[in-house]
Amino acid sequence: MSTADDRVEVRAPGRVNLIGDHTDYTGGLALPLAIDRQIVIRGVDTDEPVISLTSDQDATPASIPLPAVVADTEPPWARRVAAIAAELGREQGFAGSVESTVPIGAGLSSSGALGVALALALSADADHSRLEVALLCQRAQQAATGVPAGILDEMASLHGLGGHALLLDCHELSIEPVPLPEGAEIVVKYISHRTVAGSPYSDRVAACFAAEEVIGPLRLARMEDLSPLSDPVLLARARHVVSENERVRQSVDAFRSGDLKAAGRLMTASHTSLRDDYEVSTPDLDSAVETLVSTPGVYGARLTGAGFGGCVIALAEPGAVTEAWVVRAVDGAEVVSGGSNYYRGP
Ligand code: GLA
Repeated sequence: MSTADDRVEVRAPGRVNLIGDHTDYTGGLALPLAIDRQIVIRGVDTDEPVISLTSDQDATPASIPLPAVVADTEPPWARRVAAIAAELGREQGFAGSVESTVPIGAGLSSSGALGVALALALSADADHSRLEVALLCQRAQQAATGVPAGILDEMASLHGLGGHALLLDCHELSIEPVPLPEGAEIVVKYISHRTVAGSPYSDRVAACFAAEEVIGPLRLARMEDLSPLSDPVLLARARHVVSENERVRQSVDAFRSGDLKAAGRLMTASHTSLRDDYEVSTPDLDSAVETLVSTPGVYGARLTGAGFGGCVIALAEPGAVTEAWVVRAVDGAEVVSGGSNYYRGP
């Protein structure tokens, strides 16, 4: 029989991406941070071969017979539970609850954080590295949604570091912490609900892979390498990716040297590229960014995450933006109690 001492508690944060969107699935660069909005799972192992979880975000609980089968699992959030359990080869039952302060469908990686929290809760004593957990969560995310998403969300949730953004190299799968400057805030404004499933995300991934068939890996390409792309749409998609990788590099230099104006300019340029070349913005996101960049004390603003809705973020002087959340960079996901800890590092 389970006792209170067997109780597992894990937490996994959401993320914002300061810059470097739609670069991860071609092995490019991004600069996310784990934020102070998180998913907490508490529960116990059980003898019955079923995973039973309630959620404070969905009235319908997940009930997954083991071994888990992903296809047709309902409600949709339970598909993620099944996919993580299947990836882990989990055979032992688990009963617990999911609580979230990451808004759903806002582009702040509520799904990524859920996947990471589930993976930790259902393997709290396993000896996985953070990278192994990120990779298994990415496979589970693809199995649950059919969307060929990259690894940005999982890496940010697992590797977060208080007070730091994370320079993520999606080819090397390496992380370099970048201290966030003291004299600025990162603010988030919610604009509209969206889900990546059912969005043109997969088309964008396919366009990048089609461009790579012609010019080789986008992560290695420079602007002058794009001329063989005769299709104007592929050219525009590739131009976004190549310029965005370069903006991430320049942003890291700007943050490290405390040049907030340069960091802000790069963020706004990133939004323009996502809007015009990658075509993943919306009129509402554009007008929110325009309003922010014309607000005194704002260094720059952009959509964050996949686009098609969700949130915009701004880098601003403290107090410059009202009616927005100020986010703080926090440490990455962890087993809080009832299992071995996940330490920082690869
Ligand atoms: C979503 C995906 C990530 C990444 C971003 C865009 O959040 O899950 O892998 O591609 O969109 O940068």
